[in-house]
Amino acid sequence: MIGKLNHVAIVVPDLEIASTQYRGIFGASVSDPVDLPEHGVTTVFVNLPNTKIELLLPLGDQSPISKFLERNPAGGIHHLCYEVVDIGLAAEKLKGGGMRILGDGKPKIGAHGKPVLFLHPKDALGALIELEQI
Ligand code: CO
Repeated sequence: MIGKLNHVAIVVPDLEIASTQYRGIFGASVSDPVDLPEHGVTTVFVNLPNTKIELLLPLGDQSPISKFLERNPAGGIHHLCYEVVDIGLAAEKLKGGGMRILGDGKPKIGAHGKPVLFLHPKDALGALIELEQI
């Protein structure tokens, strides 16, 4: 069911420092920051030949990643995103297999304008998994 690894998301305390590290020391192609107020994050994308790294900084008081940064002040890996062809079908299969989908259990429009859902980390080997319909 799952396809390519779409991105790995890393929450960082400073996007400029993180971008400079990826652009400079790692020599990667790095996007400009984009504010996504409806998702409570500012994002920078690092484009690698086979996948992307999503650098995330909390935006606003209600950011869903603020607590994560409090617990991991130096930053840390936040989630993995796998591609699926049909997110509705994927959601039904996952629920049928006893996995919990975060929120109201329905796919939402994610940070890239495509339908996404997140699985409860306790049901997925301790990792927060995002599925994105491609
Ligand atoms: Co993501």
